[in-house]
Amino acid sequence: MKKIIKNGTIVTASDTFQAELLIEDGKITQIGSNLSAIGAEVIDAKGCLVFPGGIDPHTHLDMPFGGTVTKDDFETGTMAAAFGGTTTVIDFCLTNKGEPLKNAIQTWHDKSKDKAVIDYGFHLMISEINENVLKELPQVINEEGISSFKVFMAYKNVFQADDETLFKTLITAKDLGALVMVHAENGDVIDYLTKKALEEGNTEPIYHALTRPPELEGEATGRAARFTGLANSQLYVVHVSCADAAEKIAEARSKGFDVWGETCPQYLVLDQSYLEKPNFEGAKYVWSPPLREKWNQEALWNALKSGQLQTIGSDQCSFDFNGQKDLGRDDFTKIPNGGPIIEDRLAILFSEGVKKGRISLNQFVDLTSTRAAKLFGLYPQKGTIAVGTDADLVIFDPNVERVISAETHHMAVDYNAFEGMQVTGEPISVLVRGEYVVREKQFVGKPGSGQYLKRAKYRTNTPLNQNETLSI
Ligand code: URP
Ligand code: ZN
Ligand code: ZN
Ligand code: ZN
Repeated sequence: MKKIIKNGTIVTASDTFQAELLIEDGKITQIGSNLSAIGAEVIDAKGCLVFPGGIDPHTHLDMPFGGTVTKDDFETGTMAAAFGGTTTVIDFCLTNKGEPLKNAIQTWHDKSKDKAVIDYGFHLMISEINENVLKELPQVINEEGISSFKVFMAYKNVFQADDETLFKTLITAKDLGALVMVHAENGDVIDYLTKKALEEGNTEPIYHALTRPPELEGEATGRAARFTGLANSQLYVVHVSCADAAEKIAEARSKGFDVWGETCPQYLVLDQSYLEKPNFEGAKYVWSPPLREKWNQEALWNALKSGQLQTIGSDQCSFDFNGQKDLGRDDFTKIPNGGPIIEDRLAILFSEGVKKGRISLNQFVDLTSTRAAKLFGLYPQKGTIAVGTDADLVIFDPNVERVISAETHHMAVDYNAFEGMQVTGEPISVLVRGEYVVREKQFVGKPGSGQYLKRAKYRTNTPLNQNETLSI
């Protein structure tokens, strides 16, 4: 049904203004004042900000890892995302060497169909480049609408690809119009350091961080950026955790390389000391790259503020403390890597970023939504508020104070990485294509109502009401 949002302050990546929004058939059809409300449900957003629904470009839902599977699947994960103000996720579709890509993609469709409560797309992991893969990739882009490929430079003997594969992926992506994403850590050296730590009897969670030092993230980031320059291709570095890697991205950009960087809330507010919590609690904070020494946080905030890092992903990859993280009680290498972050991505960036004066409100929207929409071929259908765009909207009270806790969160996992943290600002209602998913803080969505998104090629988009392709 028709809806009108009145009395709110609209925020986009470029502007902040008072206006009413008319929503019809899932789209924003008018923006103005004194719009006719005949036949429309009126939503009063007084005292609230209205911004485009968050786009989380980095999630792992229903993902197998380390002999277990993430606790949150496409139902609980997208539900929690919606509570936090996210209306689109792009999840990583894993592939296995020798397996047709279309089978892997079908597996991910099976995991998500009938489950997602918000819209979603997939990135495709590249584990090898051979004739079969090269034959399939054009279909992946043109028929599946998957215009981003992920290469892991770490997790030796599991996901890790070699430099030849990364370089060939960059060349291929350039030709086909895809963005290459990298997990940038030097997996070979990490493998050596972890084996040595275990031989010396060092088995506690803190050794996860000590065997993956920031130098190895900086090195891999710089290497991938160099390859990108050489291939004249395009690169997006996921989960940048430290100053060293952020500097490599800034350096590449200063050379004119098409290199982008994402960081995550956890690296902005938590630090390496969390892995030293007693009673194995440090395992709750084991993910890769690891949390870093606290001084890195300021470097990351500055990189966001100055535009050297451009997006915030959650890297949602949740495992219970009891029964899953436990697998590594006697050996840190057996702790499944990842954390539950999807729900609090916007809250932390708003509270710690906007409220504390580190970034502007418009930068907040750019970082949590607009930039990801542009980089991943969803703009302007998603990622902004304009006539003709999907009515994916968050009505956000910027003054509510609350404490983050596993007792009140909506993720399926038994702990929260930000337990006890006080934040200011909370989504009150969240709409996807004009329909409530969260209404006055209550879930009213429906599993299966989320739509699969076929995304445009890198740096192209289909302008509203036209079929031609434009550069952005
Ligand atoms: O520890 C993490 N980040 N787990 C998810 C997989 C990845 O590396 O992104
Ligand atoms: Zn309706
Ligand atoms: Zn990763
Ligand atoms: Zn990840």
